[in-house]
This record gives sequence, structure tokens and C-alpha cells, in this order.
Amino acid sequence: MSPILRGNVISFVSRSEEQTRRLGARLGRLLQAGDLICLEGPLGSGKTCFAQGIGIGMGVKEPITSSSFVLIGEYKAPNGLTLYHIDFYRLQNPVEEALAIGIEEKFYGDGVCVIEWADRAKEIIPPERLWITFNYLDAHQRSILMEPNGERYVRLLNLFKESAFGLG
Ligand SMILES: Nc1ncnc2c1ncn2[C@@H]1O[C@H](COP(=O)(O)OP(=O)(O)O)[C@@H](O)[C@H]1O
Ligand SMILES: [Mg+2]
Repeated sequence: MSPILRGNVISFVSRSEEQTRRLGARLGRLLQAGDLICLEGPLGSGKTCFAQGIGIGMGVKEPITSSSFVLIGEYKAPNGLTLYHIDFYRLQNPVEEALAIGIEEKFYGDGVCVIEWADRAKEIIPPERLWITFNYLDAHQRSILMEPNGERYVRLLNLFKESAFGLG
């Protein structure tokens, strides 16, 4: 897999569900308190699969699941970090509903936030984050574009490039 690099941005193609999960796990291993990872892309483009990988990389024992009823799934990593898996898909008014349940406490707290359909409430998402856009190419291939905003995320993405592709 050869990624395309442009400035701080990186894009590549995942050729299987397993590969997307492994890439998520590579990122998950690098995450720290307060990190914010935003996932955008159509249904079936691999967001949940990648989020599951993040959980694995963080060492979370239970599988990350998508529930129709829970807006925020909370998982504990062995090192004490909390992973918040957030999904804006089912919300009628994502901004109001997310604010009403106190999502900002999570955004600005000590956990790691991974948000599916982050684009549905972009205006309330902190400006510093790693934004990942997934797209469907064919039955087995997904394009993945990663764009860092802020120093922490430029550094994080550099570590990820090193870990996933051996690029320093
Ligand atoms: N390269 C790939 N990466 C991720 N998922 C893939 C890939 N190829 C096929 N798939 C399939 O696409 C679907 C992705 O589902 P999911 O991760 O739930 O998407 P989303 O959360 O974006 O709606 C799964 O059924 C998975 O098996
Ligand atoms: Mg999903």
C-alpha cells in the first residue's frame, strides 16, 4: 500500500475490512488523553470498522459496537484512558441533541473521542482534531484521507505514517 502525501495530509486505499481495522489499531496505539478523531463518509465506508481498530489499538477488551440507541459508547482501556465512541448518524438535529447531552464535556475532557458522522455537527467540533474521510471505491476497497488540524494532530499523523507505512 503506497500512500499519497500532500503537505500534512495523507491518503491511501484500504483493500479489506481487516486492513482498515489494522490501520485503526495502529492509530489507536498512539492516542492520548484529550485526542479527538473525526470520521466522515457514507454508510458502509468503514468508519465503524476503523473505530473498532482504534479500540483494539487502545487495548479495550470488549468489541466496539454500533448501537441504534446509544449516542455515546464508553469503553475503558487498561491504561485508564476512556474511549468515547460517538455516532451522530441517527440524530434528527445533531447539534442541539449532542449539546443537550453534554457532548462538550467529552470533547474537552480527558478521554479519547472517536466520532462517526462528525460532519453532521461540524460547527460544534473543536478546531483541533484529526479528520478522516472514508469513501467507497468498490466491494473491498475504501479510500481513506487523513487531515490534521493543530500541532498535536500533525505530530500524531507523523507517528501514524511512521507506524503504518514506515515513513518518518
Ligand atoms: N476495505 C474495507 N474497509 C472497511 N470495510 C470494508 C472494506 N471492504 C469491505 N468492507 C465492508 O464495508 C462495511 C463497512 O461497514 P462499517 O464499518 O460499519 O461502515 P460505516 O460505519 O462507515 O457505515 C462492512 O460490511 C465491511 O465488511
Ligand atoms: Mg458506522
